[in-house]
Amino acid sequence: MRLAHLSDLHLIPDGALEPCRLLNRRVFGAANLLANRGSLHGTDAARRAVAGVLGAGVDHVVVTGDLVNLALESEFALAADVLAPLGQDPGRLSVIPGNHDYYTSDAVRTRRFERWFGRFVWGVGTESATYPAFKDLGNVRLILAGSAMLPPPLCAFGRLGRDQMDQVFALARQGAEAGRFVVLAVHHNLHPQKPLRDRTGRLLDRDELRARLAESPVGLVIHGHDHHEHEMRIGSLAPGGTLVVGCGSSSVHAPSRGRHGRFNIYDIPEDGSGTLGVERWESGPDGGFVRRGR
Ligand SMILES: [Fe+2]
Ligand SMILES: [Fe+2]
Repeated sequence: MRLAHLSDLHLIPDGALEPCRLLNRRVFGAANLLANRGSLHGTDAARRAVAGVLGAGVDHVVVTGDLVNLALESEFALAADVLAPLGQDPGRLSVIPGNHDYYTSDAVRTRRFERWFGRFVWGVGTESATYPAFKDLGNVRLILAGSAMLPPPLCAFGRLGRDQMDQVFALARQGAEAGRFVVLAVHHNLHPQKPLRDRTGRLLDRDELRARLAESPVGLVIHGHDHHEHEMRIGSLAPGGTLVVGCGSSSVHAPSRGRHGRFNIYDIPEDGSGTLGVERWESGPDGGFVRRGR
């Protein structure tokens, strides 16, 4: 099973940040901050990442949230268009929300993310279902968690909550007992970031999640939120422990600032006895993605 991992596209449609269109004060206040982000993330870069994944030959793609910035309808329309080449089959594509996909109370209340992408969480016709969801994909049980929440302005907190965590680990146990390799996808990172970022944008129940992972059979956790790549291992019931990987933002293209777009591909052994392989892909000077270390 080859599983691709994209994240943090932060797409901005042309004209979306014009002040007259930003009636919500919360959104208006954020627009200035996003001006800088607009020069770092690009729609073309995101399309090249999608093309790179398609060219690499994978069985399933997971996008770990922050598709957009302000959770506007026009942004989600652009995200759907960027991801369209990956197809409409929930058996081939999974998408979970990030904090930016829940940016306004209006977007959360109307389940805007779920209206656009719910089919890639729960399958067709179940857009009103709750998190976590799961998919059994051959020898893999993929658990899709929802950590996004509406945080205070200019904060980026997330939370899984006790009920969701209980369900995540029950699903993990069931998957492992059925002989499947268990993968958990969650938007927020599990490692500490810089102090200010951690104070304003961490997963609030991160410590509990890490403690419960240590007693679980989850073999791989994939996340976004940190736009830089990160990897660590937590000792657990999974052979070799739980690998926790953030691929970094897939839509970055600013070579002059030393920033490149990234995605990962995980090679998950079919029989459960081999080792998990991680391919790291990165955009080059021309924006095309190449596998690192080759
Ligand atoms: Fe992000
Ligand atoms: Fe985020």
